[in-house]
Amino acid sequence: MKAGCYQFDPAFGEKEENLNRVASALKNADLNLLVLPEFFATGYQFRSKDEVAELSESVKSGQTTEFLCGMSREKGIYIVAGLPERDGDKFYNSAILTGPDGLMGVYRKTHLYFEEKLYFSPGDTGFKVWDTEIGRIGIMICFDWFFPEAMRCLALNGAEIVAHPSNLVLPHCPGAMPLRCLENRVYAITANRIGTEDRTEGKPLKFIGQSLIVSPRGEVLANAPAEEETLLIAELDLKSARDKTLNPLNDIFKDRMPEAYEAILKKER
Ligand code: ACM
Repeated sequence: MKAGCYQFDPAFGEKEENLNRVASALKNADLNLLVLPEFFATGYQFRSKDEVAELSESVKSGQTTEFLCGMSREKGIYIVAGLPERDGDKFYNSAILTGPDGLMGVYRKTHLYFEEKLYFSPGDTGFKVWDTEIGRIGIMICFDWFFPEAMRCLALNGAEIVAHPSNLVLPHCPGAMPLRCLENRVYAITANRIGTEDRTEGKPLKFIGQSLIVSPRGEVLANAPAEEETLLIAELDLKSARDKTLNPLNDIFKDRMPEAYEAILKKER
C-alpha cells in the first residue's frame, strides 16, 4: 500500500485557498493514505480565542470535514488531517480520519505546545487506533512525539501506521522519529508544514519542513526538504509492523515489564 503526506505553506485564515491547494496536489497522486499537517486549512498562530472561534469547526459537519470526506470518496483513499475543533464552548487541536465511506473518527491532541495552551483544551480522546481495510491507523499530533508514551500507547493499541500531522518548530523531531518507530515497530508519517508565521509581535514561528516517512526498522523511506512544498510517497508493507520480534528470544512487546514502570503512571509536576 502507498502512503504519503503533503508538506506545504498554508496561508493563515485562507481556508478556501488552502483546501484548493490540497485538491491540486492530490489531482494525480497515486496513494491509499494521505496525511496533512496540523491546522492545514487555517494556519497555526492564533492571536485570540475569538480567532480560534471564527476558524474552528465541528468535526461532524464543518467545511473541512466535508472537503476531506469528498476527497476520500472521490479518490477512494484515507486521509488524516489536523484542524481546530469546536465542541460546545471548548476548542481542541484535533485531527480527523476520513475514508471512502466518510468520517471515521477524531483524535484530540493530548500534549499542547506553547501558546496552544491559551486557546485549546488538552485532548480527552486517548490514543485511538482505527481498523481500516488498508491497515490499523493511529494518530498523534506534532508535540505529542516528545512524549514517548504517546506512540507507545498507539503501538500497544495495535497501530501499524502512526499518522502524525505536525507544525514543527523545534529541530529534533525528524531525528527522533526513526527511534520512535524502531522501539515500537510501527510506520510513521510525519506531515509537517513549511514557511513562517509572524502574527504575534516578537514571536515569529518558522516551521522546519523535513516531513518524513519511517519504517518499523527505523529506516527513513522518504523525506522532504526544509523549505519546499513536497508530496512525499512511500510503499509500506504492514507485515513488518506486526512482527515485534528482534530474534528468536526477544519480542519487544512480550519482553515489556510493566510492573517495573510504575513511575510512568504517577503524575508529578
Ligand atoms: C507543535 O506541537 N505544533 C510544535
